[in-house]
Amino acid sequence: MSHDQLPTDNPAVVTCGLPYANGDLHVGHLRTYVVGDAYTRALDRIGQQAAFVCGSDMHGTPIAVNAAEEGTDPEEFALAYHEQYEATFPQFNVEFDNYGHTHDETNTETTREFVRSWIDQDVVIEKEIQVAWDSEEDQPLPDRYVEGTCPYCGEHARGDECDEGCQRHLEPGEIEDPVSTLTGNPAEYRTREHKFLRLSDFQEYLQEFIDRLEGTENARNQPREWIEGELQDLCITRDMDWGIDYPAEDDPEAGETAEELVLYVWVDAPIEYVSATKQYTEQVGTETYDWEEVWKPGGEARPGTEWDDDWTDDAGEIIHIIGRDIIQHHTVFWPAMLRGAGYNEPRAVLATGFVGIDGKALSTSRNRAVWAEEYLDTDFHPDLFRYYITTGSGLEQDVDFSWDRFQQRVNSELVGNLGNFCYRGLLFAHRNYDGTPDADVSEEVREAIQDAIADFEDAVAEYTIRDVADVAVDLADFGNGYIQRNEPWNLVDDDPEQAAQVIRDCVQLAKACAVLMQPVMPEKAETLWEQLNEDGSVADAELSDALAEPPAGFDAPAELFAEIEDEEVEALNETLRERVAAASEDADSEDDEDAGSETADSADGEAAADFEPLAEERIGFEDFQELDLRVGEITAAEAIEDSDNLMRLEVDIGIETRQVVAGIQGLHDADALPGTKCVLLANMEKAELFGYESDGMVLAAGEDADLLRTHGDSEPGTKIR
Ligand code: MSP
Ligand code: ZN
Repeated sequence: MSHDQLPTDNPAVVTCGLPYANGDLHVGHLRTYVVGDAYTRALDRIGQQAAFVCGSDMHGTPIAVNAAEEGTDPEEFALAYHEQYEATFPQFNVEFDNYGHTHDETNTETTREFVRSWIDQDVVIEKEIQVAWDSEEDQPLPDRYVEGTCPYCGEHARGDECDEGCQRHLEPGEIEDPVSTLTGNPAEYRTREHKFLRLSDFQEYLQEFIDRLEGTENARNQPREWIEGELQDLCITRDMDWGIDYPAEDDPEAGETAEELVLYVWVDAPIEYVSATKQYTEQVGTETYDWEEVWKPGGEARPGTEWDDDWTDDAGEIIHIIGRDIIQHHTVFWPAMLRGAGYNEPRAVLATGFVGIDGKALSTSRNRAVWAEEYLDTDFHPDLFRYYITTGSGLEQDVDFSWDRFQQRVNSELVGNLGNFCYRGLLFAHRNYDGTPDADVSEEVREAIQDAIADFEDAVAEYTIRDVADVAVDLADFGNGYIQRNEPWNLVDDDPEQAAQVIRDCVQLAKACAVLMQPVMPEKAETLWEQLNEDGSVADAELSDALAEPPAGFDAPAELFAEIEDEEVEALNETLRERVAAASEDADSEDDEDAGSETADSADGEAAADFEPLAEERIGFEDFQELDLRVGEITAAEAIEDSDNLMRLEVDIGIETRQVVAGIQGLHDADALPGTKCVLLANMEKAELFGYESDGMVLAAGEDADLLRTHGDSEPGTKIR
């Protein structure tokens, strides 16, 4: 089954990964929310009804641990952050239709209903397992109360996630060499009874689901490995007080300890997506938006084991926007949870790359971050941040936040291009014609706007947010070229009719820019709309309004964007440099970790802190020999059109020529590559990317993909040892 192209007649819901209510928001978190907000506005623009919901994630061990450290109650602790987030989002023009939290009544009830359905469907089982235990404190050590070594990749990991290594979710008892984070003592293991969702029941379903799933490549491909291997049961309970109680009274097989268990935070957290949508319906009424049409189109729970393919055809469009660290939760556990309770499945998962600083991850606890509050303290408009964070790279790529880069992009693309075009076009129109000159839009400009609309629609349907954001700036770029070519200032006297025509075109282009930029820069678009003397809000305009006639009269415009001065950025850079240096020092002396993925810091001092740590485990020569490394020569190279970062290469390795897909687009010039020697891993498993088979891997160093090559005259095909 494949989905109908967006927009569809069904309602959609867009959700964002819920922020843990345990610390200030930073620019990394904001990437998820800005993308979610811009995407929802863009859906609306193409005529897709969509609700945008989210909420605070109130449960889990980080909150319990932090609240205990501060000597406060976890509920009070989490609610304070919840209120802070609610106040912060709108300041970035992130406007949820409903923003709830996981501890409220709706979510408590919905979560318990989910669990009851699983129990009825017989997909919950009880098992005795070994859980980590602190004998000094005489208490169990769920999740973040324990740290150790990941059994899959050997990296340092937390009790429930390999945050520094392979990003896998870890089940209780899986972590090796467990150490209590309460006392620092090695943890013991004790036998406890816990409840599990039998994921293996969903294996076949998940394998089909992943073929239907839309969104970013990382979210569609990363889970395959897990879904194709043996699916481990998911432990859905924890030995803790803080959380939603396991509904033991509904479980005929609940053992004695079930009464004391709470649900694992990753059970009730995604269910908040449903609860928040429900609450939205309660606010606006089912006539306006019916949550059941989206989440539960059958109206009642469907059996967990039989799947009616047609059923999802009439269901709404569920689109999740998250960071890449929580792909497994959204593409394996969550679809199984939904299906087990008779709910609709996600249509798309968009997983963004991580935001870092100087190539290293952000860290809340080490204060290595640019904080949301800090941005709001500058004079920079929120729409500038929104533009920067949505267009700085393709959605899946990791990016570094840099004030310099921010300044450059704002000054060249927003001030120099978009702002400049709209200002000079409208100013000229106002001065010479008091508004829109009386002429028809030229065919050339009409076509340019039509193309821009089509690009916008395609980008929304294909989930390429950067392209959504680029459309208006590209159109302004066209407009600047158009003015430059036609020189209306020279025409006013010599050929007034032609001058009016050119300026008429410019006003139309500015109007189209307002319509097209609105999802990413809603407030700036509104300002431009007002300058054009348009009625109502640009948010209510349709895409076709980009071609509708602008008002005849308007006042002198003001500049839409102001240049960012070097001094402003220097001060911010200085603060950030000091903070990053202090964070690195901290990292040397203590080893605390916190939310989000972080690369481990090296203990070798600051200079080394920029590199990934050296692997601890040594490998034998035999392991090395398993790598079939060959000298290659690139014979052809082209960018893969639909991808932001991939190139298709043909590499001659003497014996044969291989097609390889490499993530080097934008880092190497396709025309300059043929003739370049390279190093190819010839026995890399084949993979398919954007429809191209990749048969081998070209080796490269670092963020800039510095290609490894040989320097003597070894021929293509020569083995490297
Ligand atoms: N509470 C969970 C999500 C539950 S969803 C049912 C969580 N919370 S979080 O506070 O750690 O992250 C909130 C969102 O921000 C997630 O989408 C996460 O992926 C994203 N990011 C957190 N740090 C980030 C960066 N440094 N860069 C990009 N996204 C980041 O995970
Ligand atoms: Zn791992």
